[in-house]
Amino acid sequence: MGIGKVEELGIYILAEDYAGYNSQFWAQHGISFLIEVKSDGIVRRILFDTASYVEPILFNMGLMGINPKTIDLIVLSHSHFDHTGGLLGIMKKIRREIPIFAHPNIFKVSFATEPEFMYAGIPPIRKREIEKLGGIWILSRDPIRTMSGVFTLGEIEKEKKVDFEREVTIDLQKLENGRVVQDEVEDEIGLGIVTEKGLVVIGGCSHPGIVSMVQKAIEITGVTDVYAVIGGFHLINANDERIQNTIKALRDLGVRKIYTGHCTGLKAEAMFLKEFGNNFEKLHSGKILRF
Ligand SMILES: [Fe+2]
Ligand SMILES: [Fe+2]
Repeated sequence: MGIGKVEELGIYILAEDYAGYNSQFWAQHGISFLIEVKSDGIVRRILFDTASYVEPILFNMGLMGINPKTIDLIVLSHSHFDHTGGLLGIMKKIRREIPIFAHPNIFKVSFATEPEFMYAGIPPIRKREIEKLGGIWILSRDPIRTMSGVFTLGEIEKEKKVDFEREVTIDLQKLENGRVVQDEVEDEIGLGIVTEKGLVVIGGCSHPGIVSMVQKAIEITGVTDVYAVIGGFHLINANDERIQNTIKALRDLGVRKIYTGHCTGLKAEAMFLKEFGNNFEKLHSGKILRF
């Protein structure tokens, strides 16, 4: 069986760092998307990430008329609190068995030490709490097809990354066998969706590098026509050269639409806007994308 294709795709931005202009929606640090796909004639709802806090997600869902009980599966892009913080609260609303796709290292001990110690991820104690509420962990380094046209990207192998994305743009450490080592955020997986318009690639913070993530989605599907790239690109601390390389590589891959915000950073957003013009859109809470 091949990857297949979705017939319809809608993405509801439930949480984002920006509320939008003259908007009723609440902003918060982080990302949460409700991805609605029609695939093989069946509509399914995927919750991609859960931002920092559940309350603004539920408030925004209320405004958009989305009932959390209708969520069919959850994908966590990576462990960071601004993508996993709302998970327990969401599970308290769902309260039934539901698969949660993530990387096996999602419960690693990852932290910042500047300006002081701060835990970066999802505390291991949450694993059991979420299981008790019905969460079924599907922890995989490999891509998994969740339905026709929809698949997780799995781990972005370091040796397959484009050169300029081998260096991580975030300063974190992690524990590995009791030793402190650099955290390269290998636990970030993305989501790929094959639509009539082409491939849609969704990242959380895109810590492995958004270009390498798009390349992985192409490798998995064999679909070379990339319609849209969506998510945070974590270029907030990147230098101009890295940002330029990213924009050029996405252009060379033929990416037509860019939807970004969160940790991409104002400078990178401005550079994307300059390059992509009307094909660049800034994400914000309450925004709805349809493909
Ligand atoms: Fe983030
Ligand atoms: Fe992150």
